[in-house]
Amino acid sequence: MMEYGNMLAVVGSPSSGKTTISIKLAVEIAKKKKNVIVVCADPFAPPVPFLLTADTEQNTSLGALLTAPTLTQNKILEACVLVPSSEHISLLGYCLGENPMSYPKVTRERVIDFLVSLRHLADYVILDCTAVFEADIFSILAMELADRVLRMGTSNLRGISYYRSHAGMLEDRKDGGKYISAIGNFKTGQEWEAAAGHYGGVSFVFPYVLELEAQYDELHLFEGLTSKESSAFQMEIRKLMTEISGLQVHIQEQKPEVKRTVTARKKSSFQNPFAGRKGEF
Ligand SMILES: Nc1ncnc2c1ncn2[C@@H]1O[C@H](COP(=O)(O)OP(=O)(O)O)[C@@H](O)[C@H]1O
Ligand SMILES: [Mg+2]
Repeated sequence: MMEYGNMLAVVGSPSSGKTTISIKLAVEIAKKKKNVIVVCADPFAPPVPFLLTADTEQNTSLGALLTAPTLTQNKILEACVLVPSSEHISLLGYCLGENPMSYPKVTRERVIDFLVSLRHLADYVILDCTAVFEADIFSILAMELADRVLRMGTSNLRGISYYRSHAGMLEDRKDGGKYISAIGNFKTGQEWEAAAGHYGGVSFVFPYVLELEAQYDELHLFEGLTSKESSAFQMEIRKLMTEISGLQVHIQEQKPEVKRTVTARKKSSFQNPFAGRKGEF
């Protein structure tokens, strides 16, 4: 079990890699032979249909679970989609074609019941939230009830703008140390330090990896990464795993290309991380 408990929420800007990181972290957890449930809670663009090949059936939607007259641990387990390539990972999420209007209003009480039950159903629970969390009671409560919250940003201006708009809602209040900040999908040529300053410092930088993007597009996200360029990404995932679990990992000799933890820059000054450069975004 994690030092803080077993539930991690992943939040942050659109396309920052929340779903990608959630799955890769689950794969890392599965390597330790621990069970993990990933709840893909985005009702605006449900990811589960695109995480698995067409022959894997998703029978029950997260929306159905959250609005059914009663909720039992059995119902939750029955709704879990088992990942064919890993006996340790299962997924819950909305189905293809659904949106927040597909179900009656989800209540706060039901989400709390659901999250409390989930904790007992796996060694680890990852709550992959929607960027528009303020419009989704599940994501709001996920952040509140999770033991740790991974706050993902991007190094492009849209991500920084998103963070500026949401910073007040994405900050530690009383739980010091609950939030972990990261930049995802970080491209060569972007200045991570300048970008990190906008997020008040970050602990992880996940580099853009071509192989990873291809895995995502080809529905192979549960497979291992083999390219040389992916090792820095993989290193960050292992470190994240250590951070949230306390499990010791075997740190490879190879140093990652990315650096971490910079001091916060004063929020008032807007420094364009791409000034003077042609970004690749
Ligand atoms: N580190 C990365 N390297 C390459 N592509 C990435 C990386 N992180 C995310 N992506 C790509 O960005 C897109 C959005 O990623 P996703 O995980 O769905 O983001 P989010 O869940 O935050 O919206 C996907 O096409 C994914 O393949
Ligand atoms: Mg997502």
